Amino acid sequence: MPRPTVPPSAPVVRVRAPGKINLALKVGPRRADGYHELATVFQAVSLFDSVTAEAGRDGRIEVAVAGPGADAVGAVEDNLAFRAADLLRRWAGRPELGVALQVDKAIPVAGGMAGGSADAAAALLACAQLWGLTVSRDDLLELARQLGADVPFALVGGCAVGHDRGDRLTPALQRGLNHWVLALAEQGLSTARVFQKYDELSPAGDPGSAGPAPLDLMAALAKGDPVRLGAALVNDLAPAALALAPHLGRVVEAGRSLGALGTVVSGSGPTVALLARDGAHAIDLAVQLSSLGLAQRVLRVSGPVPGAHLVPA
Ligand code: C5P
Repeated sequence: MPRPTVPPSAPVVRVRAPGKINLALKVGPRRADGYHELATVFQAVSLFDSVTAEAGRDGRIEVAVAGPGADAVGAVEDNLAFRAADLLRRWAGRPELGVALQVDKAIPVAGGMAGGSADAAAALLACAQLWGLTVSRDDLLELARQLGADVPFALVGGCAVGHDRGDRLTPALQRGLNHWVLALAEQGLSTARVFQKYDELSPAGDPGSAGPAPLDLMAALAKGDPVRLGAALVNDLAPAALALAPHLGRVVEAGRSLGALGTVVSGSGPTVALLARDGAHAIDLAVQLSSLGLAQRVLRVSGPVPGAHLVPA
């Protein structure tokens, strides 16, 4: 993860941050703070939102959002990029700092790929750089944690195991690159709603346990074996996501019948990820999946890729 560095006050700063797929998502009991205990394995994939920061007027934080699904992003004050900038200036004791943020979205909104979290991670890094603040890696991760469970991973990227709320990260050993086909849905799903459905579907009195990250999956990653990886993909939230969006069942079924190595709902859905053998297989799967007309859009991505990073503005 790059640290914001001096020289400060570049007039325009741009940061890109990736979306993620959860290769494994094991859910434990709901805690007193309302979050569920998780054991998850994240992989950052080559679908990036970008946040461009310019000096703002009169200490104001302004946010403009563009790209597919931008209309579905909530009011400015609820926007995670806004909250990231505001949290950072309060943490720095500089409430007078202002910024104009332009968020360009490529990661599906409410798609289970942590697009909002990517925007928060990118805004943290962009504002720290624009305002010339020196923020340690640990402080950035702590601020990220306060913004949401997936924000630390958007900063770090690569491949990592997440515990607690998914926000205590350990790097995971991964060999090679994975090629994915993503089926995007028309309607997003609220993460909170999917976790609530998960609770409704769980047997009373059996809160389960998140457990450790699945060993077969970790071994497949370390070996760079996509066949074993495909067989080990797992998401405890899938039944809840499918209960709320039943058409996803047809996408998962299509992934199986088209010969994907594995098919998994990403995070809380509704994006479904199909694992391909290699780049050529991914092209083949994407063409076949598109022709079935089950997804609003079909994209090809690969991972792992780095977390939030500065790019030329
Ligand atoms: O952290 P974030 O704001 O992205 O989470 C959105 C919602 O998803 C939380 O308010 C909570 O209801 C649910 N959630 C959960 N357990 C987690 C992560 C998220 O219950 N580990």
